[in-house]
Amino acid sequence: MRQQILVTGGAGYIGSHTCVELLAAGYDLVVVDNFSNSKPAVLDRVAAIAGRAMVWHEGDLRDRGLLQRLFDKHPFAGVLHCAGVKSISEAQQFPLKYYQHNLEASLTLLDVMARHNVRRLVFSSSATVYGEAARVPYREEAPVAPNTVYGRSKAMVEGILHDLVQADPSWRIAILRYFNPVGAHPSGLIGEDPSGAVNNLMPHLCQVAVGRQDELSIFGHDYPTPDGTGVRDYLHVCDMAEGHVKALQHTAGESGLLTLNLGMGRGHSVLEVIRAFEQACGQRIPSRFVARRQGDLASYYADPSRAADILGWRAKRDLLEMCADAWRWQSQNPNGY
Ligand code: WQD
Repeated sequence: MRQQILVTGGAGYIGSHTCVELLAAGYDLVVVDNFSNSKPAVLDRVAAIAGRAMVWHEGDLRDRGLLQRLFDKHPFAGVLHCAGVKSISEAQQFPLKYYQHNLEASLTLLDVMARHNVRRLVFSSSATVYGEAARVPYREEAPVAPNTVYGRSKAMVEGILHDLVQADPSWRIAILRYFNPVGAHPSGLIGEDPSGAVNNLMPHLCQVAVGRQDELSIFGHDYPTPDGTGVRDYLHVCDMAEGHVKALQHTAGESGLLTLNLGMGRGHSVLEVIRAFEQACGQRIPSRFVARRQGDLASYYADPSRAADILGWRAKRDLLEMCADAWRWQSQNPNGY
């Protein structure tokens, strides 16, 4: 009998790649997604890659009735909670939206889980919970002190998960703090497809390369980094998806709460990413230095050793592979799904 897992946000960028790995690992999946930043077509592509379909429902996690019906119907072995909204700048403008979709939705989900005696969870958190005070490389014990609404919405859920485990140690929870996931599945069938404004570096590069934008703006050239541009810990989304499967498997045998960084453990500058992307796509990417983006840090990257020690997980795919796979996805799907 295969275990059934509920994946929230399963049609999203990280959710979809994780569904592929979970199906390959032998789980049966039920996806719930409100398709606010994704499309149902994603799930057909996931099924095509995996050779196996999943059940899916369109809906909002704040819809308690929907969740109750799902949990009544399916004997879930656990939940992978990837659903959420994730734009740093939009969150500053619309904090309530962010607390509703990231916090209220999580509370409703956790409550329905507890009432159905499902206490196994993998939660999508973010390296952004560390804030400015932490020293690189970021270790999981570094203080949680986010300086943005988005970061606080994630940190608050982390805090609630800690309280839950404190009150009832039978919960089995893994909190995954993502660094900068990029790339796409090597099939070119699924990848990142932001609707509306594009915020992040890799989707910008992809859109310039396919001609949807004229040039890339490089935010800042005078950071205290080797070439003056921002440094981040980019990791391939398929490595990240494998990390989720290992974290889920780990929660089968261990109660309590585990917090893990998912990163490569090294940084790349914006200029290095541009060079690697140019190599991958075989064209020059027009770019221009502009002012720093408000709120950006100069440089940060993970210490991923805890995930290596506990899960035996390491990100394996290098920057060129990340760029090649991002480019394959974008060039085969110039307008997304
Ligand atoms: C990377 C680097 C930019 C765009 C954000 C969130 C984080 C996580 C991932 C969620 C920086 C520079 C970018 C561009 C540029 N999200 N840049 N021109 O800001 O590290 O992380 O997304 O869960 O929480 O903060 O990622 O890809 O936006 O930026 O020069 O057009 O690229 O300044 O140095 P970031 P990013």
